[in-house]
Amino acid sequence: MALPKPSPDAQAYSDALKQRIGDEIEAAGGWIGFVRFMELALYAPGMGYYSGGAHKFGAAGDFVTAPEISSLFSQTLAAQAAQVMALSAPQIIEVGAGSGRLAADLLLELELRGALPERYGILELSGELRERQRASIAQRAPHLLARVDWLNRLPEHFDGAVLANELLDAMPVSLVVWNDAMIHERGVSLENGEFVWRDRPAQGRVLERAQALADEYVLPAGYSSEINLAAADWTAAWGRILGRGALVLIDYGFPRHEYYHEQRNTGTLMCHYRHQAHGEPFYLPGLQDITAHVDFTAIVEAGFDAGLELLGYTTQASFLLNCGLPEILGRTPADDPKRYLPQARAAQKLISPAEMGDLFKVIALGKGIDATLVGFAENDRSETL
Ligand SMILES: C[S@@+](CC[C@H](N)C(=O)[O-])C[C@H]1O[C@@H](n2cnc3c(N)ncnc32)[C@H](O)[C@@H]1O
Repeated sequence: MALPKPSPDAQAYSDALKQRIGDEIEAAGGWIGFVRFMELALYAPGMGYYSGGAHKFGAAGDFVTAPEISSLFSQTLAAQAAQVMALSAPQIIEVGAGSGRLAADLLLELELRGALPERYGILELSGELRERQRASIAQRAPHLLARVDWLNRLPEHFDGAVLANELLDAMPVSLVVWNDAMIHERGVSLENGEFVWRDRPAQGRVLERAQALADEYVLPAGYSSEINLAAADWTAAWGRILGRGALVLIDYGFPRHEYYHEQRNTGTLMCHYRHQAHGEPFYLPGLQDITAHVDFTAIVEAGFDAGLELLGYTTQASFLLNCGLPEILGRTPADDPKRYLPQARAAQKLISPAEMGDLFKVIALGKGIDATLVGFAENDRSETL
């Protein structure tokens, strides 16, 4: 694998996190579950990939997300946010706001539509990103910054729209290996100062979920995949918090029967470093993203058990088309190719099945919403979950 070399500073930063994780492995008796490794690699305070100084998003970072590709994404999402607010309350919470680009573009578009929220709360684990979000909103939408609050935890109660783009895929997952006789949880140990994989008999909730999957699907001996308990718990928490409103979550993934397909026998874990995707999570901890696809059936089940209704599930392409992407693109005159062509290319990237259009899905879960949500008006695929 030929990945670009980090600078000496970045290497030292990664070495410090490696030491921090190694210390925890030793303190735990020589083994931690991969779920804890991923949590530390991404979120160890001041050191993890998201909580530390890595650049992360955009051309100079490691990966590009939809709001970073073009403002068209957030402008289009605004149609859905406005409808949810009209049906509930004029408030938004965005979770995992990255660079703050989505928040700024969404607020500007809602202003244009005369549908500004009274409050726009951002819930973000990373202190470094909070600062970046504040700076980005101050730069792009300075007159709207006063409406934005940064929250320290989930609220007790909330009415309105909850938005998250690529949040669930960034939550730490447990790795599981199904063997004929036993189900193992894959974890991390140290050998000569280096991380190595070690499997242990699975226990507790991981075992329970893994056993249920083995009962439902054909998982040949040696099959390995992920279980994301954090994403399910996070969704369930909103069942207790939400009075009236909806969560609109955008992420890559599949319904469960596709996720745990017999042929997807090494799971979906993926790392991103300087725009190269690879499968080595031990490489340069703190400098690369680690992510797994989302099992959307698990999200619906967790929400359902907590009192949330499924309001829609479809591809990103259908969602954006339903929310009026062509009309928003049409604001840029096609006879001005210098401005129009980059916009058209970005729209293509967002909706093309060969790019983000099909792999990325949008799911809406909510309470007290009777109307059909605009983003799911056509091509709702809820029945595939
Ligand atoms: C892959 S990034 C996506 C960022 C942004 N939404 C975008 O689309 O560009 C994941 C984001 O979620 C944040 N995050 C992860 N888990 C979180 C949690 N439980 N609560 C709040 N933020 C979280 C990360 O710090 C990061 O900002």
